[in-house]
Amino acid sequence: MTRRKQDVAPGRLDHVGVAVRSLEEALAPYEKGLGLTVVDIEELPTEKVRVAFLPMGDTRLEFLEPTGDDSPIARFLQRRGEGIHHLCFQVDNLEATLERLRKAGVELVDEKPRAGAGGSRVAFIHPRGMAGVLVELVEKERS
Ligand code: CO
Repeated sequence: MTRRKQDVAPGRLDHVGVAVRSLEEALAPYEKGLGLTVVDIEELPTEKVRVAFLPMGDTRLEFLEPTGDDSPIARFLQRRGEGIHHLCFQVDNLEATLERLRKAGVELVDEKPRAGAGGSRVAFIHPRGMAGVLVELVEKERS
């Protein structure tokens, strides 16, 4: 493997995740009102969500609709209602960033990378150690 093992600090905001009850209802004002465009709707059976992405400049909005009552998004909606669910930061090397977080004593949701939308590799950091923000890390696509 010839990947650089350099910076572990995130390089950009990859997307903002928004929990919604219905993609169709939630997307309407963003598409018809703001003029954003949905480029991709994908179902992630392992996460029990349907996901829609709307590009916006260098970043994206990610809308998450639960596909079952036991979905983490369904539980979030029950507790908090619709709204911002997580921020996703792009990193060059997911393992290196997770290792740095561990060393700093930050509580992780995922000790190891798992599969995210679009075949990406992701890991979540627990909001407890992140000022109440659920943070997702996504590894920059290898090119
Ligand atoms: Co996300």
